[in-house]
Amino acid sequence: MFRFSLPLAVLFTTSALSSPLSLAARRPEATAEQCHGISGPFLAPSFPDPSLYYIDDTWYSFGTSNGKDFQGAKSAELKSGWSKLDGPILAIDEATWAGQQENGVYGLWAPDVFQRTSDSKFVMYFAALDKETIGTDNVQHCIGAAISDEIGGVYHPENDFVQCNRTSSGVIDPAWFKDNDGKQYIIYKTEIPENWLEIREVRSSGPKEGVEFVGNAQKLLQVNGQGFSDGNNMEAPYIFRRGDTYFLTYSTHFTGDGSYDVQYATAKKVTGPYTRVKTPLLKTTDTFGCTLTGPGGASFQRNAQGDEGVAKIIFHGLTDAMDINKRVVYTATVQVDGDKLSIQP
Ligand SMILES: *[C@@H]1O[C@H](CO)[C@@H](O)[C@H](O)[C@H]1NC(C)=O
Repeated sequence: MFRFSLPLAVLFTTSALSSPLSLAARRPEATAEQCHGISGPFLAPSFPDPSLYYIDDTWYSFGTSNGKDFQGAKSAELKSGWSKLDGPILAIDEATWAGQQENGVYGLWAPDVFQRTSDSKFVMYFAALDKETIGTDNVQHCIGAAISDEIGGVYHPENDFVQCNRTSSGVIDPAWFKDNDGKQYIIYKTEIPENWLEIREVRSSGPKEGVEFVGNAQKLLQVNGQGFSDGNNMEAPYIFRRGDTYFLTYSTHFTGDGSYDVQYATAKKVTGPYTRVKTPLLKTTDTFGCTLTGPGGASFQRNAQGDEGVAKIIFHGLTDAMDINKRVVYTATVQVDGDKLSIQP
């Protein structure tokens, strides 16, 4: 039988307990202590859905904000020394397709940033509220792109590049992937009623690099698929490659409680088919010698930088306050063994 400290036990939902997992052996000390193998928490009070990009000997991360601009942060070490970037980061008022609710919310969620090769400019993929749906009882998100000369911004929206779903559901959580053959892709989540993770190729050279679709979307995974129970939510997709294996990572369940996690599936082609792996990479646990609650929204080091056996990771988790508006950042090193991922101790 698994044993939890009392405050942790009450956070668990039945679904979070349903998979027979590594909620291990080690019990947390009565007093708070540093995690082992996991660094953090950083960037309080809240920095949800952190992205990850390494350039000029510095790790950069951008995170969700419901307000008028994204948040950005950087660190030379990844496992310490995170500091916030000064804004402005995104000129959201230049986005012709995005809108603001009466309460001031722009719904700026889950950005991802990379440098393109054609002109060394930086591209930010992001989700924002779909202007056409504001004022209706079905307010949704679209995903789009913005371009900046500097990694820290200001990013200016590329208004020709946008994907919505105005017939039914919104689109969120865009992430970039560049394969070894130079082809580039965007991976994202389609919202309920049909919650899928999808991939779509984007232009890989020229002035429209990263900001023009090539071909149609392809479905990768559907929520509750392959015999899994996901609490009816699968999101935050991310793809990276090590050797000849593609890892499609994602979070399931609800980001506002202890049921959130980081799971993954593997494939030998970027477009799949992906096979889901039973054991999540991360979930609520005290295995690391501290209480990690609702870890998710993870981003991985895409470029192996010469070491195919590891991938640095950044993700968010809840604090003791169990408040969705207080999600803090953790980092770690993921060990890659063939088709298996684990947190390096
Ligand atoms: C919009 O969403 C519906 C329901 O999820 C789906 O059937 C349809 O294919 C989507 N349309 C586009 C253009 O993605």
